[in-house]
Amino acid sequence: MSSLRPSPPQPSHHHLRTWRVRESLTTRTAKLLCSFFLFLLLAAGVILFVLWLSVHPHRPRFHVSSFSAPGLSPAAGTAFSFNVSDRNPNRNIGIFYDAVAGSVFYRGNRVGFEPELVGPFYQPPKNTTAILGEVSGASLSPEELAVDLQSGRVGFRLELRSTIRFRVSTWDTHRHRLHVACDVEVGPDGALLEVSRSRRCSIYFF
Ligand SMILES: *[C@@H]1O[C@H](CO)[C@@H](O)[C@H](O)[C@H]1NC(C)=O
Ligand SMILES: *[C@@H]1O[C@H](CO)[C@@H](O)[C@H](O)[C@H]1NC(C)=O
Repeated sequence: MSSLRPSPPQPSHHHLRTWRVRESLTTRTAKLLCSFFLFLLLAAGVILFVLWLSVHPHRPRFHVSSFSAPGLSPAAGTAFSFNVSDRNPNRNIGIFYDAVAGSVFYRGNRVGFEPELVGPFYQPPKNTTAILGEVSGASLSPEELAVDLQSGRVGFRLELRSTIRFRVSTWDTHRHRLHVACDVEVGPDGALLEVSRSRRCSIYFF
């Protein structure tokens, strides 16, 4: 527009104008660059998020399929037998387990322990494995057991410990220490009560 003017504007005026034009050009370029980098950042974020979602391992799931404490009596040591189902819910990720140790607790006291219910094993994706245990235990506290037998339900806590690694294709994650806790209740005959059947166990990493 300024070129169409018959007489050029004051030098100072002209200077100001080109300076303004240059300024708006730089601002625009800067804005463009900014949006471009923001876009790149966002795209990279989305790609990373999708990758993380596809690789992020889900923890295994544990349920008590069976648990029994036959011959439950204050006088004698108690034997426990159980079957815990261990499901790897991942589609593409396998899990390596170290030996699985099992403990049985009664009212906070450990009354049974087996250091190796099962030796180290590999669990393929989408696989369910039964962890079986036969644990012979110490005698239970007679006064508390008498009260529980009277009430018709005796609660135990079954704990499993192991160390696991996830395998994604050919890449292994570092080791996670795994701690599984299942609360179970048996009747006076030592058989699992229906309320405890297939109850999901809690799982912790530490
Ligand atoms: C353990 O429980 C699972 C699931 O209920 C069952 O399929 C399996 O046969 C049981 N194993 C034994 C030895 O009882
Ligand atoms: C789970 O994996 C184990 C070990 O590879 C295998 O013996 C078992 O048959 C598998 N179970 C199922 C239900 O695929």
